[in-house]
Amino acid sequence: METGTSTIGIVGAGAMGSGIAQLAAQAGHAVVLVDQKESALEGSEASLAKVAARLVEKGKWSAADSERIQSAIDRTTALDSLAACDWVIEAIVEDLGVKQSLFQSLETIVAPEAVLATNTSSLSVTAIAGKLQHPERFMGLHFFNPAPLMALVEVIPALQTDAAHVDRAKSMMDAWGKSPVVTKDTPGFIVNRVARPFYGEALRIFEEGLASRETIDAAMRSTGFRMGPFELMDLIGNDVNYAVSCSVFEAFYNDPRYRPSLIQKQHVDAGWLGRKSGKGYYTYAEGQAAGEASIDPNQFDWIVERIVAMLINEAADACYLNIASPADLETAMTKGVNYPKGLLAWCNEWGAKATLNVLESLQIRYGDDRYRPSPVLRDLAAHKSSFTL
Ligand code: NAI
Repeated sequence: METGTSTIGIVGAGAMGSGIAQLAAQAGHAVVLVDQKESALEGSEASLAKVAARLVEKGKWSAADSERIQSAIDRTTALDSLAACDWVIEAIVEDLGVKQSLFQSLETIVAPEAVLATNTSSLSVTAIAGKLQHPERFMGLHFFNPAPLMALVEVIPALQTDAAHVDRAKSMMDAWGKSPVVTKDTPGFIVNRVARPFYGEALRIFEEGLASRETIDAAMRSTGFRMGPFELMDLIGNDVNYAVSCSVFEAFYNDPRYRPSLIQKQHVDAGWLGRKSGKGYYTYAEGQAAGEASIDPNQFDWIVERIVAMLINEAADACYLNIASPADLETAMTKGVNYPKGLLAWCNEWGAKATLNVLESLQIRYGDDRYRPSPVLRDLAAHKSSFTL
C-alpha cells in the first residue's frame, strides 16, 4: 500500500508535471518538482498559487490546505535532488530519445527500490524500458489534461514491468482519488486508440460532403457527447490531434482503420489550429465558435450510427485483443473523454448484430478495410450474445 508518506519526484514543470505535482501534494506526499528551466518552475509555482487562491475562495480548500499543499512542493533545476524519491514521474518533452536518456540518468540517481514512470501519451513504454538497467521497475502512468480534474489514469506496464509495481501504482492512484485502468503498451493505449473514429469518421463524412461540420457536431451532441468532433478538435488543437492520428497510424503499420485525414493536414498547414489560433474548423471571436452552415436534424440518425458504430468497433477490438478488461475500457472512455456511456454497453444496447450490419454496409459501400468489423462482433452476433460487463 502506497501512502502519502512516500516522496514523489516529478520531472517537467509544464502543464502536466505541475498538475501531477499538485495531485501528489494534495494526497499528502512530499514532492520534488524538477525542470531544466527556472522560468518553468516559477510559472508552475505561480499557477498553483492562483489555483489555490481560487479554491480557497470557493471554499473547496481551507487556508491550511492551501498552505500545506503549496509548501509540500520543492522546486529545483537539479536532477540529483530526486535521490530520495520513492517514485519519479516524468512529464517532459514528447521525444523518445530525450526520455530514454533522462531515465538512464535517473537510474543512477534514485534508490534501487524507487519506481520510475513516464506520462507519455504516444511513445512506446517498452521502448523506454528497453534502454534501462532495471526495466522491471518502469511503467507508464498516463494522466489526462488537466491532471487535477480528470479522473482517469492509464497504468501501462512495459513488457518488462514487474506486476507488483503495477499493483502499487493502482493503489497509489486510488489513494489520489483517481480511476486507474490497466492497459497493454500498444499505440494510443486505450483512450487515444479507441477515440480515433470520433474524429476520423467525422472528418470522412465532412470530406465526402455528406454533412456540414455544424450538423455532425450537433448530431453527436444530440446523443450525449459534450462536444462534437470538430469543436473538440479545435479545442485540443488540430496540430496536436493530427500528430496523434499520424503516430497511431504509423505505429499500427499503416492500418487503414487509423488513416489520418487530408483535411486535418491542410488545417495544420494553413495554421488553422483551432481555438488557440482563432481559427480552425470554426472561426473564434472572443472564444465563441461561429458556425456558418445550417444544421439539418434529419441527418442526425445516420451520422450518429456511423460514428458510434466505428467507436464501438474500436472498443470491441481492443477488448478482443486483450488491450484492457471490458470494465477498464468502459471506465477509460467515460472518465478519460467523458463519453455519455461505455462503448461496450452501447453495443449491448444496439445489439452486436445491428452494430455489425452498420459496419458491413460501410465496408461494402467503400470496399475499404477501414470498416472491417472486429471478430468479436461477429462472434457475439452469431451467438445472439452481448459483452459481459
Ligand atoms: P510542456 O511543454 O508544457 O512541459 C514540459 C516541461 O518539461 C517544460 O517545462 C520543459 O522545460 C521541461 N523539460 C523538457 N525537457 C526536460 C529535461 N530533459 N529535463 C527537465 N525538464 C525538461 O508539456 P506538457 O503538455 O506538460 O506535456 C509533458 C508530457 O506529458 C509529454 O510527454 C506529453 O506527451 C505528456 N502528456 C501531455 C498531455 C497534454 O494534454 N498536454 C496529456 C497527457 C500526457
